[in-house]
Amino acid sequence: MSFPKRTVILDDAAHAAEFLRSGKLVAFPTETVYGLGGAIWYPETIADIFRAKGRPADNPLIVHVADAEDLNELTPSVPTIARDLVQAFWPGPLTIVVPKREAISSLISAGLDSVAVRSPKSDLARAILKECRIPIAAPSANRSGRPSATTWQAVLEDLDGWIDAVMKGPPCDIGIESTVVDCTSKYPRLLRAGSVTPEQLVVVCPEIEISGPLSAAANSPGLRHRHYQPVAKVIPIQEVQSVYPGPNRALLTLESHPAAESFGLYRRCETSEEYAAVLFEFFRQADRQGMAEIFCQLIPAGGIGRAIRDRLHRAADSQ
Ligand code: TXA
Ligand code: MG
Repeated sequence: MSFPKRTVILDDAAHAAEFLRSGKLVAFPTETVYGLGGAIWYPETIADIFRAKGRPADNPLIVHVADAEDLNELTPSVPTIARDLVQAFWPGPLTIVVPKREAISSLISAGLDSVAVRSPKSDLARAILKECRIPIAAPSANRSGRPSATTWQAVLEDLDGWIDAVMKGPPCDIGIESTVVDCTSKYPRLLRAGSVTPEQLVVVCPEIEISGPLSAAANSPGLRHRHYQPVAKVIPIQEVQSVYPGPNRALLTLESHPAAESFGLYRRCETSEEYAAVLFEFFRQADRQGMAEIFCQLIPAGGIGRAIRDRLHRAADSQ
């Protein structure tokens, strides 16, 4: 398919589903981040997702379904542990990795014999998936390596001309991507931290392996690549008070800074959840305003804190 495309803005789920059924690329909101969707049965559409994002071919895609029953179309056997996780967390921000049916293109799985699947909770995403009736592959709707998009405007910032449509939905509630759990071996393993927390996972799945984020890199191919990177330099910090303010410096924090007004961009969050919800948009806003550095307070690793720390370290490491 040819680029550039004329990207249209949609506000109707049925229209988005019709676009997807005809093999078009449609970005749509989920509760985590916006996804760049394409129907899984069209190889050319899947190839277009990789082209539009500039995504390396060795980074597999998550397939989105309306309901748990749709899993049978994607996997020959649902492991017991996957069933338990689905029961506890679907629809919601949890992706499970399960054995793949042969019919699923190896482009989607990047040559692996497994497939990642998630059933999103957001009303709009569910309406589109139900209406579409084809599972939808959807990576985050950003150019590869950039911060994920949590608003439809951020999607256009990266992908205008590369996709057929964007669904004009609300900003995403959670703001960081789903938790990914590998269910293909005897013991399930956390591959990517997200808003379903380790504390919640162990309740359902006491034997789950929750290793350090970097040691999981070999298992979750996407984690090898550059990620979440704004143009400005991301600097994780412990002590907020020690940051010297300046007009081209941004600060994202949980504790207040005595010279807040002397930063070019400043946001103080009340909770870790609020911090997660604004993080990627803060990165993007810092770039729009030409900030040189983004200081981000490292928050405690409990709950969603683990996922936030993971994103911050990756954003900083890859620069
Ligand atoms: O919240 C989310 O998960 C969002 C929304 C749109 O649903 N999607 C998302 O997709 O974050 P993406 O492509 O940015 O990240 C997919 C992650 C990558 O780390 C990838 O390596 C991993 O899932 N993944 C996909 N298929 C896999 C597989 N078969 N085995 C292991 N990891 C897999
Ligand atoms: Mg992504």
